[in-house]
Amino acid sequence: MDKLRIAVILAANRRGRTGPAVSRWFAELAVKYPDQDVVFDFLDVAEIGPADGHGGPMAPAPARTVAEADGYVVLTPEYNHGYPGELKSAIDAARREWFGKAVGFVSYGGMSGGLRAVEQLRLVFSELHTATIRDTVSLHNAQAMFGEDGEPLVDLAASEAAVERMLRQLTWWALALREARERRPYPG
Ligand SMILES: Cc1cc2nc3c(=O)[nH]c(=O)nc-3n(C[C@H](O)[C@H](O)[C@H](O)COP(=O)(O)O)c2cc1C
Repeated sequence: MDKLRIAVILAANRRGRTGPAVSRWFAELAVKYPDQDVVFDFLDVAEIGPADGHGGPMAPAPARTVAEADGYVVLTPEYNHGYPGELKSAIDAARREWFGKAVGFVSYGGMSGGLRAVEQLRLVFSELHTATIRDTVSLHNAQAMFGEDGEPLVDLAASEAAVERMLRQLTWWALALREARERRPYPG
C-alpha cells in the first residue's frame, strides 16, 4: 500500500513574526510522527496562491501535491477573528482536489489561539466536501511562546500531545477516506 500523504499548508506564516517559529515547531514534530506509513509534504501559502489573483488556478507543482494528498493540516494565525486572506485564495485555487479528503488544523494567535479562524475554516472546507478533524492544536499568546531564534521559551508538552492526538485522528480519517475513494469514486 502506498504511504499516506499529508500536505501541511502554512498560511501566511513566512511573513509574520510568530509564524515561522510555529511552523518549524510543528514540522519538526510531524516528521517525527511515529507512523512510518505517513509522508508529509510542506506547502507555503505564498506558493500555492494563484498568480493571477483570486479565482485563478494553482501553479502545477503545488496543485499536484494538493491533488495527491490524502489529507491536509492547515496551520493558520488569526487576524481580527478570521484567517488570512491569502489562505482563502489558495483554498479557492483548487476544487475537486480537496473532495473526499480529511483536514486538520493547527492555529495560533493572541487570546483566542486562532480558534475562531479554525471555526470559519470548517465552514469553508465543508463546502469543499472534506471531513474536518474534531481535535485541533491551538497556541494561545503564541508570540510569547517563542524566542527571537524561533526556539520555544515555554514548555510545550501539552501542545505536543495535542499535535499527536490531531494527527492520529487525521490519519485515521485520511486512510478511511482513501480506502472509500478507491472502492468507489466520490460523487461530488
Ligand atoms: C491585525 C491583527 C489582528 C489580530 N487579531 C487577532 C484576533 O482576532 N485574535 C487573536 O487571538 N489574535 C489576534 N492577533 C494576534 C495574532 O494572531 C498573533 O500576534 C499572532 O502571533 C500573529 O501571527 P504572525 O506573527 O505569524 O503574523 C492579531 C494580530 C494582528 C496583527
